[in-house]
Amino acid sequence: MFYSGRTEGDKNEFQRALTSLSSWFNFTYANDNLIVFDRSLSFAEDPRFQSAFDKAAGNNGQARSLMWRLHIAGWVGKQAQRLSGDFVECGVFHGLTSYFLCEYLQFGKQDRTFWLYDSFKGLDPETATDAELSSWDGTYSTIPTLADDVRKRFSQFDNVRVMPGWLPGTLHEASPTEIAFLHLDLNTVQAEIQSLECLYDRIAPGGYILLDDYGWAFNAPQMQAERAFFQQRKITVLELPTGQGLVMKP
Ligand SMILES: C[S@@+](CC[C@H](N)C(=O)[O-])C[C@H]1O[C@@H](n2cnc3c(N)ncnc32)[C@H](O)[C@@H]1O
Repeated sequence: MFYSGRTEGDKNEFQRALTSLSSWFNFTYANDNLIVFDRSLSFAEDPRFQSAFDKAAGNNGQARSLMWRLHIAGWVGKQAQRLSGDFVECGVFHGLTSYFLCEYLQFGKQDRTFWLYDSFKGLDPETATDAELSSWDGTYSTIPTLADDVRKRFSQFDNVRVMPGWLPGTLHEASPTEIAFLHLDLNTVQAEIQSLECLYDRIAPGGYILLDDYGWAFNAPQMQAERAFFQQRKITVLELPTGQGLVMKP
């Protein structure tokens, strides 16, 4: 799946061009606005990855198109397991990434908590910009049963806590004191920065922050604000080809 805002006619033309280019190579991976030729995709052959990916994404084409992002999240989660501290996701929606991580890392057997924060009703009109609201709110604010659906989805994991409410407010009500892995995915810059400000000092040394939307050109204000946040702490964010940004706290 690709995000372009173009018409069906344009999409057909794109598909023809991609098919033509692909004929030059042995293998093409094209999804989530990422096109690569002749890469091994060794992670996709790992049975544990396959099983967790299938359980999390099911037959949903849009979810399956995020395979490489989930691979990155799984790798980061695996490294973070070596540290003490909880896992946190700010921006959960249906729980694609967090459910994948729970399955991939057998999170139920771990002696730590996974905190899942979301309003479960979209972006906060008090802090989101008009552009952010018009781009995203229609997608995230329309499922009245979402919080209950997510609670049900994670009910098999005793160590997952679903935390409904506006960020960063809910973090001030209840949040972990030590964090090994923070996944930040709110699609709105002010709430992301305020959540980072609240949680950064609690990230363990060597702990990870994965910024889902960091490198996407249409989220440029997010990158500017997050880059400035980390520059103040003398840290450079690693921009990944998936559009994610990765930080390991020194
Ligand atoms: C891109 S989705 C998260 C996707 C999810 N990480 C996944 O793996 O599929 C963004 C989510 O952030 C939530 N959100 C945005 N702004 C928020 C805020 N200020 N407080 C709480 N939740 C918010 C939305 O409700 C939405 O579910």
